[in-house]
Amino acid sequence: MSQFKTQEEAEAAGVYVQKVRSFVKREGRLTKGQAKALEEFWPTMGLMHADGKLDFTEVFGRSAPVVLEIGFGMGKSLVEMAANEPDKDFIGIEVHRPGVGTCMAEANEQGVTNLRVFEHDAVEVLADCIADESLDRLQLFFPDPWHKKRHHKRRIVQPEFVQKLRSKLKIDGVFHMATDWENYAEHMLEVMQTAEGFKNLSENQDYVPRPDNRPLTKFEQRGHRLGHGVWDLMFARVN
Ligand SMILES: C[S@@+](CC[C@H](N)C(=O)[O-])C[C@H]1O[C@@H](n2cnc3c(N)ncnc32)[C@H](O)[C@@H]1O
Repeated sequence: MSQFKTQEEAEAAGVYVQKVRSFVKREGRLTKGQAKALEEFWPTMGLMHADGKLDFTEVFGRSAPVVLEIGFGMGKSLVEMAANEPDKDFIGIEVHRPGVGTCMAEANEQGVTNLRVFEHDAVEVLADCIADESLDRLQLFFPDPWHKKRHHKRRIVQPEFVQKLRSKLKIDGVFHMATDWENYAEHMLEVMQTAEGFKNLSENQDYVPRPDNRPLTKFEQRGHRLGHGVWDLMFARVN
């Protein structure tokens, strides 16, 4: 890709470039419960990348602030947040099919109706399905840290990607990240500090305390006991 600055430039010139993805698709077996949830709840909760741009009012049957979460895993905190903030609508994106099943089962269990999910690459969903300046909040919790230096390019937080995220946020909309990997927290901070159009909501211009609306995960509670850190970063779109 040497003579091209971005993937788009290379593609526009007709050059095929192997995409660097932030995930490795693990097929993983579905439990019976996950398979049942996918079958039963997909018609009401599932969204398809192939359907193109979303009309939120049509999808949720109302007009409310929209929160989008990238890589929700099993969806535990996403479902809890959707249950705790019934005045907002939530969209989750996850590539791992078993996680999508568990998330929908949990949402049904908790009677959550303000949540829809994609089983797809968030990079593509954002580009093709989400209108510009439409989101009130974007959440990225504990993204794959890609520990090894040679894998750092797979980290989803990159200068180009955060500009794509910015274009999807409303002005004053917030991008909230959390990680338990210090080196990734530093990387996030570095990318965001030099990113055009964002304001750090941290008093010290670095990290923020975990806001009450982000549920404490079990894994995080255990981490706290072991003295492991978690870093939250919140940036608002300013222009
Ligand atoms: C380390 S897990 C964290 C899951 C969850 N947020 C949590 O806090 O437990 C990261 C998740 O992001 C998903 N992921 C990574 N890249 C993605 C992408 N481009 N689009 C959608 N999901 C992605 C992975 O499949 C994985 O489930």
